[in-house]
Amino acid sequence: MFFNRTPQKKLTIAIFISSRGSNMEAILRAIRDRRLKNVSVALVVSDNPDAKGLEIARSFGVETMYLDCAPFKTKLEGAAEERIVSILREKNVDLICLAGFMRMIKRGLISAFRNRIINIHPSLLPAFPGLDAQAQAVAAKAKVSGCTIHFVDEGMDSGPIIRQAKVSVKKNDTEKTLAMRILKKEHSLYWRVLRDIVRGGVRIGA
Ligand code: GAR
Repeated sequence: MFFNRTPQKKLTIAIFISSRGSNMEAILRAIRDRRLKNVSVALVVSDNPDAKGLEIARSFGVETMYLDCAPFKTKLEGAAEERIVSILREKNVDLICLAGFMRMIKRGLISAFRNRIINIHPSLLPAFPGLDAQAQAVAAKAKVSGCTIHFVDEGMDSGPIIRQAKVSVKKNDTEKTLAMRILKKEHSLYWRVLRDIVRGGVRIGA
């Protein structure tokens, strides 16, 4: 058991996004529809001020913030990292859910939230880590791909795997058609993993 907690105790999460925010929306819908109980979203954070997901979060009545990560282009570090650590602590956030947050998380945030940051990735890790995972699967002529929820460590999409869902890759799939089918699976996977965490923890491996 990796993330072990008192069953049914309220879980306070922050969701990090960069753009569309459809995974975030699927979590917010599950909470609103009471499929996912005892979870509250303290904050939605975006490194992009124009992320469509920010508007969606506000329409659910969730507090949002834009986190300016300059001068870094691909990682969350330095002043922005210090700022977000202190905000998340102030809000008593138990778990950070990365949902399409397209920056590397570095040591400061990882050590402040050790084993309390999870991510969704559109492949069956360890296959196709990094950017454009769906295009990588098509290019590799993979027969099966899917999505993975995993703990975040210092590596690139390398932390312990919590759960995966498979998606068949069709002969005529393009990056776009495969991405759409994987996304549908992502939407049903993320809130279920959160439900398991609320129920007492998630088991890693055998
Ligand atoms: C999702 O497919 C997610 O798995 C992927 O970005 C998309 C975000 O969509 N994340 C990564 O590739 C992280 N390496 P969304 O903003 O609509 O949730």
